[in-house]
Amino acid sequence: MSSAPSSHRILLGVSGGIAAYKSAELVRLLIKAGAEVQVVMTEAAQHFVGAATFQALSGRAVRTHLWDPAAEAAMGHIELARWASQVVIAPASADLLARLAQGHADDLLATLCLASAAPLSLAPAMNRQMWAHPATQANLDLLRQRGARILGPAAGEQACGEVGEGRMLEPSAIATAVLTPSVGGVLQGRRVLISAGPTLEDIDPVRFVGNRSSGKMGFAIAQVAQAMGAEVTLIAGPVALATPSGVQRVDVRSALQMREAVLQHLDGQHVFIAAAAVADYRPREVAAQKIKKCADTLELQLVRNPDIVAEVAARQDRPLVVGFAAETNDVESHACDKLARKKLDMIAANDVSIAGQGFESERNALNVYWHDGMLRIAPARKSEVARQLLTCIAERLAHATGTPS
Ligand code: C5P
Repeated sequence: MSSAPSSHRILLGVSGGIAAYKSAELVRLLIKAGAEVQVVMTEAAQHFVGAATFQALSGRAVRTHLWDPAAEAAMGHIELARWASQVVIAPASADLLARLAQGHADDLLATLCLASAAPLSLAPAMNRQMWAHPATQANLDLLRQRGARILGPAAGEQACGEVGEGRMLEPSAIATAVLTPSVGGVLQGRRVLISAGPTLEDIDPVRFVGNRSSGKMGFAIAQVAQAMGAEVTLIAGPVALATPSGVQRVDVRSALQMREAVLQHLDGQHVFIAAAAVADYRPREVAAQKIKKCADTLELQLVRNPDIVAEVAARQDRPLVVGFAAETNDVESHACDKLARKKLDMIAANDVSIAGQGFESERNALNVYWHDGMLRIAPARKSEVARQLLTCIAERLAHATGTPS
């Protein structure tokens, strides 16, 4: 044990799931950041990873049983529950969530959760069907209502071979969330859905129609919204950017996939920010094989893509909808026309003809319009522009719902 106790005394619960192997990396990152980590494994977790791995990384004997006289003599479970400044469970299996929701005390980890007053963070990991099951979602709602912080899960390829929501957040994202004090920002308690990046519309297996959006603005908004306290879901087109910590990311490729992902994640959102540069058209047909260059000219027929932001704005039970307008001329009139035509609540317009701001750049400047006001955000780094935009959105949200921001 270190002589100067760390302010982060983390009781890390590991429950049974293949993602348990990633928790070894989580321990390494937490220790490296100066935290003290006591690992507690469930019976099922020990089928996936050996306790010796966690012991070596944490420098503490791993606790596994409620009825271990030697361990209890060293630090009893109530003492251990009091020692923790926070309890983090990664991975949190469907079974563990159910047991916690019901208040079981049938093993050491569940008992510690009941006995500890420390904040509880859960990083769920499970098969996508198990995640989507109403029983799991009801358990999560209950845990959330009691103040548990739910980290993730992420979407993507799963160990079972399926693709969907249920992957454990990456250890670095969990570590950042756990080590960063939650600051009760202006978006605390708000759920924000963000689309970002370009969409790519396939022509054949090797070619596509795309655009120059880097996704940097949307990703900056996601990161800053999360830091302001929001629960953020980011629907990302193909971009080369890391997922901001604590943000749930769903990767898509085409406009049709982006539409589907946005609609799938829309329920319960307070804000939808459409920062993606969605392709307006897609090839009418995607050739199954690479198109050969035979003729001197090639005609591609394109068809209109659905307008995602307009579709969301047209729904009855809808969040506050914020669109983007990248313009090269007459910025204000084009933006205000879009605001009205798409029935948006706000539109953030940027002049992409100005070198060094907008597409592919680290910097941006925006003019934000809503039906009875506007805000000019001067050129700055995209994170600063995101902060000012989100502060404005929080104010509009408070205005719309009549609650203080
Ligand atoms: O009409 P325009 O493409 O300029 O509008 C830009 C805004 O509309 C952005 O917020 C963009 O994300 C959204 N959009 C969309 N679906 C489309 C095209 C644009 O959501 N098919």
